[in-house]
Parts: sequence; structure tokens; C-alpha cells
Amino acid sequence: MATILIENLTKVYPPTPTYPQQVQALGGVSMSVTGNVFVAVLGPSGSGKTTLLNIVAGVEEPTAGAVRVVQDGVPAQVGYVFQEPRLLPWRSVLDNMLYVQNRKSDRSKREAEFYLSMVGLSEVAHLYPAQLSAGMQQRVGIARAFLVNPDVLLMDEPFSHMDALTGRSLRDYLQRIWLHTRKTALFVTHDVGEAVELADRILMLRPGGVVFDDIPVNLQRPRRPDDPAVRAVESEVLRRFDSMEAAVRFGDQRN
Ligand SMILES: Nc1ncnc2c1ncn2[C@@H]1O[C@H](COP(=O)(O)OP(=O)(O)O)[C@@H](O)[C@H]1O
Ligand SMILES: [Mg+2]
Repeated sequence: MATILIENLTKVYPPTPTYPQQVQALGGVSMSVTGNVFVAVLGPSGSGKTTLLNIVAGVEEPTAGAVRVVQDGVPAQVGYVFQEPRLLPWRSVLDNMLYVQNRKSDRSKREAEFYLSMVGLSEVAHLYPAQLSAGMQQRVGIARAFLVNPDVLLMDEPFSHMDALTGRSLRDYLQRIWLHTRKTALFVTHDVGEAVELADRILMLRPGGVVFDDIPVNLQRPRRPDDPAVRAVESEVLRRFDSMEAAVRFGDQRN
């Protein structure tokens, strides 16, 4: 079972020629996640979400604090889904899938085909990325991330470049594939509806990279964005979001 342990994580970027003030991206974030849970990190632009994910992924160093990502006591394998799918343009969809696998066998090909079918792309496995829509390309990116079978999956606003209708269907595919694997996931978003539709738990960040709220979402899956129960939780999260905005505006230092 995978665990992500984040302790008092702080990140301060030094001044740059273009921005001559230091920036506090994270101001002491602590949290822990264990097991088959989907956690959304929700916050407005600039609240340190990407910084947090990058530090958990190990591609960025914190200024202070510690992160441990472990699977059964040893360092966990971490997978990352980016905002853009980052497919290799000269490889077919199926070859983009197979490329990330260490073992090349009939079994790995069957697994790749299985995950493509989970995102509804069996018919286009032989096509090249440029022949697919942006939404289909991102579906390949998601299928590929699950195929690699990391212990922990990190996703940084993977649907934010998509139009609303495409985003809606992508969330549906992600839910289906997640229900099948129940991989420990940290999913960054600025979209309240998306967080409620996908997550078991919503960690809300405010500017300065401080945890403002930690909200459990106890709703059955698969979830539909127009389900009244989903809408009700969304309203509650939005209410808390408004209170965060007010707190920030009026200088409340609550955290
Ligand atoms: N490499 C960097 N150098 C300087 N400042 C940065 C750098 N990366 C991010 N920041 C700043 O840190 C803050 C948090 O950024 P980020 O983690 O990207 O937030 P989010 O993903 O929530 O939009 C922002 O004010 C951003 O401008
Ligand atoms: Mg970001």
C-alpha cells in the first residue's frame, strides 16, 4: 500500500530580475495520504499546487520540510500526467503505450490494448498522435500512465486545456479507469466541480501555499456532474472557497 507523507513543506523562490521579490509558493503544508484514495489538491492559480506536486514527484527540492512517498516501506514508483499529453509524434498510439513498458511481450501488448479500451481508443491504436483530437491524445496519456502501473499517480490539471464537453468525457474515462485500479492519486485542479466529481478528499490551498481546508467527499462512484448529490457537495465546497477568499481579502491568517 502506498503512502504519501508531507511534513511542513515550505518552498520559497528567490527574487529574479523580472520579479525582484521572493515568492512563498508553499507555506508549511502537512498532510498524509494512505491507500487507495483519490485526493484532489484544489486552489486558485498561484497557490502552489504545481510546486507541491513537483516536490512530491522529486523533481523539485523544498526549502524546508520533508516528503516521503513509500510503498510497503520502500520508495514508491511515481507516475505523472501532465497538462499536455506529451506523446511521441512519430510513434503510433499503441507504440506510444508500448514504449513506456520495460517488458516487451504479448502480455504487455495485451495490457496496453486493455488500457486503450478503457479510454475508448481501441479503434485508433494504429493512428499517430497528430491524427487524434486533443482530448483523444490526453486519453492516451492517461491510459499510458495507468499502464506503467506506478504506486502513486500524480496529475497536474490534465484537463485544463480541454473544452468543457471534452473535459467532461475525460473525467468520465478517468473515473472508470481509476475504479478499475484504485491507484493512490494526487490530482491538482482549480475546478471545484472537477474536484468533487473525482476525489475522495479535497485539500484546499490558498495563496501562499497554505492548507485552508481538508474536505472529505463521501459519494458513490461513478459520479455524474449533474447528480444532485454531487451538486450539493460542490455548493458546500464553493461556500468554503468563498470564505477562503474573504479570509485572504481581510487578512485572516487562519490555516
Ligand atoms: N520556478 C519559479 N521561480 C519563481 N517563482 C515561481 C516558480 N515556480 C512557481 N513560482 C511562483 O510560485 C507560486 C506558486 O506557483 P505554482 O506552484 O505554479 O502555483 P499553481 O500551480 O497553484 O498555479 C506562484 O506565485 C508562482 O509565480
Ligand atoms: Mg499549476
